Order: sequence, then C-alpha cells, then structure tokens
Amino acid sequence: MSEKWLTGKVVENRHWTDTLFSLRVEGAPLGFRAGQFVRIALDIEGQRVARAFSFVNPPDDPVLEFYGVIVPEGPLSPRLARLRPGDALDVASNPAGFLVLSEVPDAETLWLISTGTGLAPFLSILRTPEPWTRFRNVVVVHAVRYARELAYRDLIQRTGARYVSFVSREAAPGSLAGRIPAAIADGRLEAAAGLPLSAATAHAMLCGNPQMLKDVQAALAARGMRKHRRRVPGHITVESFW
Ligand SMILES: Cc1cc2nc3c(=O)[nH]c(=O)nc-3n(C[C@H](O)[C@H](O)[C@H](O)COP(=O)(O)OP(=O)(O)OC[C@H]3O[C@@H](n4cnc5c(N)ncnc54)[C@H](O)[C@@H]3O)c2cc1C
Ligand SMILES: NC(=O)c1ccc[n+]([C@@H]2O[C@H](COP(=O)([O-])OP(=O)(O)OC[C@H]3O[C@@H](n4cnc5c(N)ncnc54)[C@H](OP(=O)(O)O)[C@@H]3O)[C@@H](O)[C@H]2O)c1
Repeated sequence: MSEKWLTGKVVENRHWTDTLFSLRVEGAPLGFRAGQFVRIALDIEGQRVARAFSFVNPPDDPVLEFYGVIVPEGPLSPRLARLRPGDALDVASNPAGFLVLSEVPDAETLWLISTGTGLAPFLSILRTPEPWTRFRNVVVVHAVRYARELAYRDLIQRTGARYVSFVSREAAPGSLAGRIPAAIADGRLEAAAGLPLSAATAHAMLCGNPQMLKDVQAALAARGMRKHRRRVPGHITVESFW
C-alpha cells in the first residue's frame, strides 16, 4: 500500500546552533500520542527522501514541531535545516511508536533520559497532563557534547520537572561532566536529581544514541532494572534514533 502524505507549510525554522534546528509546520493536522514519531520528507533530485522525526509539540497543538541535528553527510537533515518559512514539507499521515506513557507501568518517579535530539519526544510528553497525574516525580536527563546544545532548557524547567544536564566535551557549570552510564554507576546522577534510580521506585524512558541506550541499560541492569515488555513488566522503555 502506498504511503499517504500531507503537505504542510514551514512557519519557523529556529537555529539553536550551527547544527541544531527546530522546524514548526502548519497545515498538516495529525492525531498522535505524545512520544510518537512520523516520517517527514522532501523530494531531492526527483527522489523522495523520508526520515522519522519525533513530535516535539503536544498532541493538542496543531502546529507540528520537530527538533533536528544536521548530520553533515546525511541526505535529508542538511536540507531540512535550510527550509525557510513558506516552504513545503511533506508529513506522512501515520504517526507511530511505542515510546508513550500508555506503554509505561506506574512508578514513583519517571526518568526521561536522552542524548542530543533524543530529547524531542520527551518535550511532547512533558506538555501533556499524564506525567503529572501518574508520577510523583519527573526527572529529565539530557546529555550533549557542548553546553550551547542544551536546547529547550527553559521549557523543561517551566514544566516543573527536575532537570539534570550532562555536557561531555567542555567544562560547564551547572551540568554534570562525562556520560550518563558512568554517572548512574557511581551515584552522581541520583545525587544530582535528589532521587533514587531503582527498580523499586523508577521507570526510565531512554531515547537517542543507540550506544547510549545499550550502556544505560547495562548500568540500570546492575540495579536490577530490566526492559519493560507488555507480558513481562519491567522498568525501562527505549527508542533508538539510528
Ligand atoms: C523513531 C525515530 C525517531 C527519530 N526522531 C528524530 C528527531 O526527532 N530528531 C532528529 O534529529 N532525528 C531523529 N531521528 C533520526 C532521523 O530519522 C534521521 O536519521 C536524521 O535526521 C538524519 O537524517 P539524514 O538523512 O540526514 O541522515 P541518515 O542517513 O538518516 O543518518 C546518517 C547517520 O547520522 C547519525 N544520526 C542520525 N540521526 C541522528 C541524530 N538525531 N543525532 C545524532 N546522529 C544522528 C547516525 O550515525 C546515522 O547512521 C529519528 C529516527 C528514528 C528511527
Ligand atoms: N565528527 C565525528 O567524529 C562524529 C561522530 C559522531 C557523530 N557525529 C555527528 O555529530 C552530530 C551530533 O551528534 P550529537 O552530538 O547530537 O549526538 P551524540 O554523538 O550521540 O552525542 C550526544 C551525547 O551523547 C553522549 N554519548 C555518546 N555515546 C554515548 C554512550 N555510549 N553512552 C552514553 N552517552 C553517550 C555524547 O558523549 P561524548 O561526547 O562522550 O561522545 C554526548 O554527550 C551528528 O550529526 C553526528 O552525525 C560526528
């Protein structure tokens, strides 16, 4: 069956840094659940090039928002970064994905753990009522290479979530140094959040770099936390970006 496409119009392309951008797109009304993604596409030299992007906007906001990074050698992302207000962007009609709170069991604390643009789906989730009615605490963990890449920090702090940032390639006051898995292992992440990260109290949703997903799952396994499955409940839900 051929994929159905809606053609939206770019209304804003905000550049946070040389490589990070947020596209806002009107005119492509879609039903989706916070945390899901959709394929977006451009026709490049006569070929349709489509990639998955997570929604940043909450489902009740009709202006779609996507948060992207330029992969210099990638076919689509450098072109998305160059879109300007008024340009067309095709959006598939079938959002999908399981990084959604309806797939997450109850817990005391919801940990939303991301690297880079893996933050995107959590921005949508944070702006729905569900995390605030179901969990006593919500912690957002965002790891980037450089402090200037800590996008959406103000928005996250306005939601009331506890916010822990990591900056791995320069010293950055207010952020932890190094990588998330090491800070789980040595207790620095829990100390920064002021909350335990344990099978008894926590559910962790992870999104971003696939190697980070593996390493964080190994660090959490050492604390007795395992992947959640519908038939075998656990404590970890993941989505890989590549
Ligand atoms: C379910 C899902 C949701 C996604 N949501 C987003 C999103 O919200 N924002 C976003 O920027 N990307 C997202 N991606 C990745 C996106 O689909 C593209 O791969 C990305 O935009 C690069 O496209 P490209 O055509 O330029 O290069 P591609 O040929 O797709 O990728 C080339 C290489 O770039 C690297 N890469 C790809 N994506 C990223 C990334 N996000 N950060 C760092 N390195 C990367 C990988 O090494 C990959 O092999 C998602 C992917 C999946 C599977
Ligand atoms: N030029 C290069 O050599 C190179 C290499 C990779 C990607 N890229 C490109 O650079 C762009 C930016 O990517 P990005 O910075 O958003 O994403 P990223 O490379 O995934 O880095 C984001 C954060 O995740 C951390 N991280 C990486 N691997 C991890 C792991 N196994 N466990 C825990 N944390 C981990 C990084 O720490 P660290 O700083 O310690 O890695 C960094 O803090 C992309 O376009 C990508 O294609 C370039």
